[in-house]
Amino acid sequence: MTLNEIAKKMCAKGKGILAADESTGTIAKRFKSINVENLEKNRLNFRQTLFDASAMKDYIGGVILFDETIKQKTTLGPTIPELISKHGAIPGIKVDKGAKPLAGSHEETVTEGLDGLRERLKEYYSLGARFTKWRAVYKIAEKFPTSQSIKSNAHALARYAALVQEANMVPIVEPEVLMDGSHNIDKCYEVTTNVLNECYNELEIHKVDLKGTVLKPNMVIPGSECKNKSSSEEIAKKTLDCLKKNVPSEVPGIAFLSGGQSEIESSKNLNEINKINDSNFLITFSYGRGLQASALKEFGKDQNNIKNIQKAFNHRAKMNGLSSRGEWSEDLEKESAA
Ligand code: 13P
Repeated sequence: MTLNEIAKKMCAKGKGILAADESTGTIAKRFKSINVENLEKNRLNFRQTLFDASAMKDYIGGVILFDETIKQKTTLGPTIPELISKHGAIPGIKVDKGAKPLAGSHEETVTEGLDGLRERLKEYYSLGARFTKWRAVYKIAEKFPTSQSIKSNAHALARYAALVQEANMVPIVEPEVLMDGSHNIDKCYEVTTNVLNECYNELEIHKVDLKGTVLKPNMVIPGSECKNKSSSEEIAKKTLDCLKKNVPSEVPGIAFLSGGQSEIESSKNLNEINKINDSNFLITFSYGRGLQASALKEFGKDQNNIKNIQKAFNHRAKMNGLSSRGEWSEDLEKESAA
């Protein structure tokens, strides 16, 4: 498959991406919330339960894994990448080493992980990965994000993406403008515009073939502490407008992060965006919390109740699959959950 074909398969209509690439530290927080010990066997158990669920075949085009997970063998027989491929989804891998303090800009971060990346990519390819992820993080506050943060993160994203294409994989380019803060939706629109512009400037300089990439952006949404809430219609309109103005049309797929929205909000907003999508972009989900929160709760109740854990995951995957077609509704949400 060409990189363009892989990108389109990851974001195919009715499907999206499962972001199960929480680092050991992040999954520790998730497990703490359900009183589960953060052990390798528990991480494997939770993840293989999701990757073997029936929804994988119909609603999941790709799964983003963490370094530990891509190297694990399931207790069901196959390795994790084999299990994912068996269900028709593409295995992918998070390759950044996390957001680290940005020297010279108090309170901001730059994502690291370029050193030795070429060698790591070869290994991940041999383990079955066909796409990768790198997440840059930008916070909105009075003086933030600075142009230093916008430029340094875009530069790193572009160097990452060029290396990934050299290794014959599709880079997911993830510039995440965080929801934290009291800013309004227009501020988020403005910052997202600046961030996307700088990313595509750098991607062009680094000769990245945009047809073989997937963008993973935030939605244009008010800060979580903002007093002025926005309707899904407004979020959808502003998000689509921002993407159409700032993302080159060669990009085949756009897969949103959920970023702290609830499961229902993230389905509802994605649905509204697809209802009015008059662009050529395939627009879908690449959710972590938005796909896993309910399943995680079930896992907390009883780690061995595979049926209930998979039921919760199947439901969310189906709802987001519908949203990627603009066919989700509150009624279907209730009916299918019943
Ligand atoms: P959330 O959907 O929980 O934001 O996670 C997606 C992700 O991969 C963040 O990098």
